Amino acid sequence: MKRVSMILAALAVAAVVAACGSGSSNAPANAGNKAKVIMRKAVPTDYKDKKPPAGLDLAAAATIEAGKKLFEGEGLCRTCHGDAGKGDGDSGKMLDPKPTDLTSAEFQSVSDDYIFWRLSTLGSVSGPQGSGMTAFAQGSEEQRWQIVAYVRSLKGK
Ligand code: HEC
Repeated sequence: MKRVSMILAALAVAAVVAACGSGSSNAPANAGNKAKVIMRKAVPTDYKDKKPPAGLDLAAAATIEAGKKLFEGEGLCRTCHGDAGKGDGDSGKMLDPKPTDLTSAEFQSVSDDYIFWRLSTLGSVSGPQGSGMTAFAQGSEEQRWQIVAYVRSLKGK
């Protein structure tokens, strides 16, 4: 009997070590949501290091305001990511993985080209994450960067 309990104790320790050792280097894409956690993929070469068009200042109030309008309107982002970007929109409730909380520090650690890529391409079954994310592929490049500016302005809100 003693041997059995020693084996059980060893297994318990191994399980704790395994749980602590995983996931610290690769950020989960939807941390903060309790649903399925998915891993972020690297930005593909056609979006890597992409910059906004010349003259478009992502920090300018007018750019952020234009992005907010698209986020809440035509871009449909609000329906899933919620009014304040917290990932709690009505259309997102049924999705697994859940829409990301775009205000979180964890999410905001991603690069601008990552955000631009994700909102330009579907996350659907054939898309990068196999998720329900619909994106705004039909928007002009300038409009999509305006949304990036707005998403950035949500940091810590
Ligand atoms: C139909 C629901 C839906 C809509 C509409 C939607 N999203 Fe998402 N979005 C998701 C889901 C679900 C995820 C999490 C899974 C994933 O990364 O694909 C996500 C992920 C993201 C990510 C990546 C987050 C990460 O943690 O890596 C960004 C950025 C994003 N959405 C921005 C937007 C923006 C901006 C819009 C509007 C143009 C938008 N989304 C519209 C559902 C949606």
